[in-house]
Amino acid sequence: MHGNTRIGGAGARPNGAAAAAAPWPGRKGSVERLAYAAAAAVLRRRAVLVVVPLLYMVVMVVLVGVWNLDSGPVRVGVAILRRRAPPPPGSMYRSTQVFEKLWPYMQGDVNHSNALTTAWHQKAGHRWKPCTHKRLKQTELPPSNGFLIIEANGGLNQQRLSICDAVAVAGLLNATLVIPMFHLNSVWRDSSKFGDIFDEEYFIESLKDHVRVVRELPGDILQQYDHNISNIPNMRTKAFSSKAYYLQKVLPKLLELGAVRIAPFSNRLAHSVPPNIQRLRCLTNYEALRFSGPIRTLAEKMVDRMVKNSSISGGKYVSVHLRFEEDMVAFSCCTYDGGQKEKLELEKARERGWRGKFHRPGRIISPEANRRDGKCPLTPMEVGMMLRGMGFGNTTSLYVASGEIYNAKKYMAPLRQLFPLLETKETLASADELAPFKGYSSRLAALDYTVCARSEVFVTTQGGNFPHFLMGHRRHLYEGHSKTIKPDKRKLVLFLDNPSIRWDRFKRHMQDMLHQSDIKGVGLRKPDASVYTFPMPDCMCQQGQA
Ligand SMILES: *[C@@H]1O[C@H](CO)[C@@H](O)[C@H](O)[C@H]1NC(C)=O
Ligand SMILES: *[C@@H]1O[C@H](CO)[C@@H](O)[C@H](O)[C@H]1NC(C)=O
Ligand SMILES: *[C@@H]1O[C@H](CO)[C@@H](O)[C@H](O)[C@H]1NC(C)=O
Ligand SMILES: *[C@@H]1O[C@H](CO)[C@@H](O)[C@H](O)[C@H]1NC(C)=O
Ligand SMILES: *[C@@H]1O[C@H](CO)[C@@H](O)[C@H](O)[C@H]1NC(C)=O
Repeated sequence: MHGNTRIGGAGARPNGAAAAAAPWPGRKGSVERLAYAAAAAVLRRRAVLVVVPLLYMVVMVVLVGVWNLDSGPVRVGVAILRRRAPPPPGSMYRSTQVFEKLWPYMQGDVNHSNALTTAWHQKAGHRWKPCTHKRLKQTELPPSNGFLIIEANGGLNQQRLSICDAVAVAGLLNATLVIPMFHLNSVWRDSSKFGDIFDEEYFIESLKDHVRVVRELPGDILQQYDHNISNIPNMRTKAFSSKAYYLQKVLPKLLELGAVRIAPFSNRLAHSVPPNIQRLRCLTNYEALRFSGPIRTLAEKMVDRMVKNSSISGGKYVSVHLRFEEDMVAFSCCTYDGGQKEKLELEKARERGWRGKFHRPGRIISPEANRRDGKCPLTPMEVGMMLRGMGFGNTTSLYVASGEIYNAKKYMAPLRQLFPLLETKETLASADELAPFKGYSSRLAALDYTVCARSEVFVTTQGGNFPHFLMGHRRHLYEGHSKTIKPDKRKLVLFLDNPSIRWDRFKRHMQDMLHQSDIKGVGLRKPDASVYTFPMPDCMCQQGQA
């Protein structure tokens, strides 16, 4: 009898509308038999008292057969009340259940061939090497057409993007670039100036044969504008403007006024520009822009400590860019397993950060669709399971690059359980060492950037400038291979949706994913892609080529 109060077999997870549309044919027979048996019992024994509950049962079973819109082992009464179709696989956060199920198998899996030494097989065929210098023609600098002033906005890598593009535009216009000013951003709240983050002298020196760079606008020009840069007319350019646009619209103004200002300046230059301009981007991003002395010194110490702490694996370690800070989680509008309290907390964070934005008319928030679309930030636990599945053992040193993790006490514990040798900038550097960086998000990000650039494996879990620039840098450092794990999150949420998945199956899926990342690691730039992520072929040459 107990068996009849449940719908469907345990573990069976019919997916989608096909399973929900029609009641199972086999069940009708048994319903009829049950009704027949009931009638027979009534006739034989005339036990009227049995009839009512029995009839009730029959009606229930028939109704459920018709309205069988639910999947999984759901009790009959509940199923009748819930007519809504179940959300498609990958909609819900079930990773904790999967983790609890798989944890014993992970512990028992003592085959310690560490993926650190076997992750990357893909060789680009011919090795790629940086070759910007060889390609840049070194001619006399043409006379300057005037000064280019830009304002870099956003976080560390958005600023980087603006700076590199500004050098390219200055080259295109034969303009003199004024060291970019940093706009104080409301989200990143970092008052650092160019020289606090980057080595200013080195920047000017590295570019001197190709683009003129000055620290400040000369006095005579400033005087024309009342010593106030804001008085210089701001040219608002469209996103990804072409070379032709700059020559036709910006150049005449530059010649007329002696200076032009473009603020804000990010993503103002097209991805595809002539090779000699593209090479200025290469030169700036991969050479001229190095971090300031204090950042380099501490970052190098941190890398050394990471390498020492990874002696078990020949100094190789994994770095993870974990985007699970409160603002990120709130912005994603995804739901995790912290219940109502967490929902309210994130709702409050959304209101704090983006007042009203999420409640505008017409705005539909669907955590389930977000998750299926692979848009939800991975929890530390999900990252850990993925890596263990890929074959990284518990003796792998892990560097976690991130801001303050949301509800770290709860969400970081499983990752530490999976990877006990886990470091962050706070564990790798002392409080004294970090003191000059505290409160400056760009300087802290520069430390993370360096430690991630030098890891054997870099893991990115959410898009953004930070991983995109790192992938480009790593290609530039490692013969064209980004050595980056970039999971297909639409697939990943499906594997993390099934608490009854077997460990060996889960592992196979994760290893497939690692293999995909290996293949994609050596990709070349396509016309609509950024040279800062794909430095090949613009900034690098195959061996034997010029
Ligand atoms: C790694 O896992 C093995 C087997 O579960 C365990 O014996 C060992 O203590 C773990 N190592 C670390 C560093 O936690
Ligand atoms: C351990 O892993 C290696 C390579 O991944 C594999 O060839 C070997 O069969 C595994 N051994 C066991 C006992 O699972
Ligand atoms: C910049 O200088 C180069 C080399 O002298 C010249 O060929 C080019 O036409 C100049 N471009 C502009 C916009 O002045
Ligand atoms: C500079 O000019 C802008 C407007 O052009 C003005 O709002 C600002 O107060 C001026 N700054 C100074 C320091 O005079
Ligand atoms: C390195 O590893 C050791 C032992 O695993 C640990 O005690 C230490 O905190 C780690 N970090 C540094 C910076 O040495």
